[in-house]
Amino acid sequence: MVSSKEIEEQAWAALEESIIYFQGEPVGTIAARDPEISALNYDQCFIRDFVSSALLFLIKGKAEIVRNFLEVTLKLQPKTTQLDCIKPSRGLMPASFKIQAFNRQEYLKPDFGDHAIGRVAPADAGLWWILLLRAYGVATGDKALAEREDMQEGIRLILQLCLVTRFDMYPMLLVPDGASMIDRRMGIYGHPIEIQALFYAALVASLELLVPNPKNQLTIQGVQNRIVPLLRQLRENYWLDPDRLNVIYRYRVEEYGEEALNQFNIYSDSIPFYWLAKWMPDAGGYLAGNLGPSQLDCRFFSVGNLMAIIASLTTEEQSHKILNLIELRWSDLIGQMPMKICYPALENGDWRTVTGADPKNRAWSYHNGGNWPVLLWMLTIASKKMGRGELAHHAIAIAERRLLTDQWPEYYDGPDGRLIGKEARKYQTWTIAGYLLAKEIIANPDHLKLVTFDAHW
Ligand code: GLC
Repeated sequence: MVSSKEIEEQAWAALEESIIYFQGEPVGTIAARDPEISALNYDQCFIRDFVSSALLFLIKGKAEIVRNFLEVTLKLQPKTTQLDCIKPSRGLMPASFKIQAFNRQEYLKPDFGDHAIGRVAPADAGLWWILLLRAYGVATGDKALAEREDMQEGIRLILQLCLVTRFDMYPMLLVPDGASMIDRRMGIYGHPIEIQALFYAALVASLELLVPNPKNQLTIQGVQNRIVPLLRQLRENYWLDPDRLNVIYRYRVEEYGEEALNQFNIYSDSIPFYWLAKWMPDAGGYLAGNLGPSQLDCRFFSVGNLMAIIASLTTEEQSHKILNLIELRWSDLIGQMPMKICYPALENGDWRTVTGADPKNRAWSYHNGGNWPVLLWMLTIASKKMGRGELAHHAIAIAERRLLTDQWPEYYDGPDGRLIGKEARKYQTWTIAGYLLAKEIIANPDHLKLVTFDAHW
């Protein structure tokens, strides 16, 4: 059996190999370095994928690459209103970028979703960017970078894109399907929890980062107006636990006006009570996957729920209930590889209708109930923050049994995550960095402060 130390050493070597350089400076990491499969866009640096690498570099005192990343991605952000409607919107951050050489010069080529499969714009990229900018300041103590006018403008433009007037009556952020880590159709259009949790965290971070000056005043006010209604909506109407199930089960429908209890007009028949009543432990609870008119998606999505704990979006009690659920439904949510991206998978007709019969997302594969080792770092941070490090230890031990031997796959398939993903890349950078980051957090919980938030409201 390979020792933990050896796994870490090999992981570091693999991570170093994934670093990309622009004009001689390190600026990011590529998504995967699998020599056996065509690269497609995995040879690019994705903003969301770089987060785990970036946090790790910050912990290791290698802040320069993170600073360079923040600077180059900021330059890619469109700063003016586009008259051409198929160009990326003002304020949007790219999903990914690559370095191209032309006439012996190097250029950065962003992908805002305009090249990606499905052509979906990433709603999460800008939110992660803000969280990284904050983490950079926390780790280095260098507040001057965030205070620079170009950085302030970058934050403002991301927020303006989020706070813009729109066709919606809710405080949540309205996004298309596949606008986040799950970047293919999965029935999460509207108000998916992953985006809402990141949105909340980015709003709180922005209040820390935005300098109170006349230029920022309207944006700061917009953020302040949004935070509390957003928080309430998420804590109250997304929340599912045995008590809430009882309430929803007996909901009255077709209520009109301000006093309506069932604001979203959820019909009891649309909720899988039979499954939920059996699956939901008495001590557990979680935030539902999505909420909208007559829609409450009861699937459990990991990024949204773990980020909710990390950002103190959920109350102390709710955060513990989410971790209780993970502990008590361990074989479903963790299984042979931490952890499921969502649970349960869409099967048969549901899979066909909801994913557009996408074969990569068949039941218990890839985004549709696959296991993604990158989630280990979020699970570790959420557990450690709540004083439940034993969950993280246990999960890391499971991951360690396989990751190196399996060559750091992107994801695993099967109800228990036993099979290496059918189309998974090997040497997937965020798998490697996620593992190393989890180890660093366990070794020194002081690093939690890079991404966690105290409860404010
Ligand atoms: C897949 C994932 C996406 C990730 C990308 C690069 O498209 O769904 O979340 O950013 O691969 O790893």
